[in-house]
Amino acid sequence: MSTHPPIPSRRLLEAVETWGTPLYVYDEATIRERCQSLRELFGTLPYRLLYALKANYNPHLLRIIREEGFDFDAVSLGEVELLRRALGVGPEAILFTPNMLSDAEMREAAEQGLLLNIGELGRLERFAAAYPGHAVALRVNPDLGSGHHEYVITAGERSKFGIPRSDLPRAIEIAQRAELRIVGLHQHIGSGIPNPAAFAEAMEVLLGLADSFPDLEWLDFGGGFPIPYRPEERPWDREEIRARILAPLEAFLHQHRRPICFYFEPGRYVVAEAGLLLVRVTELKRVGSRWYAGTDSGFHHLIRPVLYGSYHHIVNLSNPHGPLRPYTITGNLCESGDIFARDRELPEIRPGDVLAILDAGAYGMSMASTYNLRELPAEVLYTTEGRFRLIRPRPDRAAFIEQILRQTAFVPPGDVAQLDT
Ligand SMILES: Cc1ncc(COP(=O)(O)O)c(C=O)c1O
Repeated sequence: MSTHPPIPSRRLLEAVETWGTPLYVYDEATIRERCQSLRELFGTLPYRLLYALKANYNPHLLRIIREEGFDFDAVSLGEVELLRRALGVGPEAILFTPNMLSDAEMREAAEQGLLLNIGELGRLERFAAAYPGHAVALRVNPDLGSGHHEYVITAGERSKFGIPRSDLPRAIEIAQRAELRIVGLHQHIGSGIPNPAAFAEAMEVLLGLADSFPDLEWLDFGGGFPIPYRPEERPWDREEIRARILAPLEAFLHQHRRPICFYFEPGRYVVAEAGLLLVRVTELKRVGSRWYAGTDSGFHHLIRPVLYGSYHHIVNLSNPHGPLRPYTITGNLCESGDIFARDRELPEIRPGDVLAILDAGAYGMSMASTYNLRELPAEVLYTTEGRFRLIRPRPDRAAFIEQILRQTAFVPPGDVAQLDT
């Protein structure tokens, strides 16, 4: 669904009336449907689904995903703490896969009872020295990576992630010496993997390694399931998934007769299509032959177009049947690259129109910043009962600036006397 919002336009405009723009809106039904479709897909196998909350960590969405039976892939102690405080989720429901972990973080993770997924030999050595006899998982670099952009390819020879295959004998040696139990092997080759064949090829690598690990309880193939962002793109073909991904897993279980569970860590697939960013056109400007439509948002709210050159379909909600014209849709930041779409054919845009930037539920709000001291957007959930619920209010500007003053321990001149006393 990348050309139409999952929520009726009339309702989205109502939400704008109530909460203004910029506004993230998420459709609960889409999230639940994506969760259920994954459960149905993997249901014939021993499987576990871990939602990668880096895609979107709003606790209201986490609760929905938890209700749908997901555990979690967490990459920082912040994510772990949010899960604990928001949902009461403990270490048994989390696989902790941090990158370039510090000693202090390792100690904290171990004290919390988190299962640590280690992707560096040096870290494995330090873990072995500190926690002999413990269970641990290894993140492997299967030498094959894939993704929608160079920056999200997380395996292969140019990647900082995972233990290269050639270093695995050394990892086994370290583990054996400290009597560590390697209970899981993990890989995540990238995000937005264009086809099941690339995923399956890397999967074969991990399956081929299983026999070298006698304590193995699970294999984790990571996330990376794509969504169609452009109108001409299609989701992965279900039949191809069955043939290339499910069939080899079934064959593996049949041949090896080991009670191995298969883990998957989807992020984008679960939330991307459920979310959209509503922005208002503040300026219409002609420069040479080009029309610029400036909006009240920018890459501080949705960085994907700027960071990855990503396409997001845009709909003019206020004037859907206007004559088509090419527009460059920009944000309001002081950066020339602050552009959502270049020379995009859209129904005539007028100042004040509301545009919907689609498929923005993943890596949108979770990567947002307050650059230029512009506040974060508000977020609302469109429930399965067809009602809107505010799930993150728009920050009040005075409180936002007050927070900066407090965080920087800065004392404005008028307040000095008060502080000194
Ligand atoms: C370790 C790990 N697992 C899962 C994911 C989720 O990936 P995606 O959102 O493409 O499914 C990521 C994303 O970068 C990741 O780093």
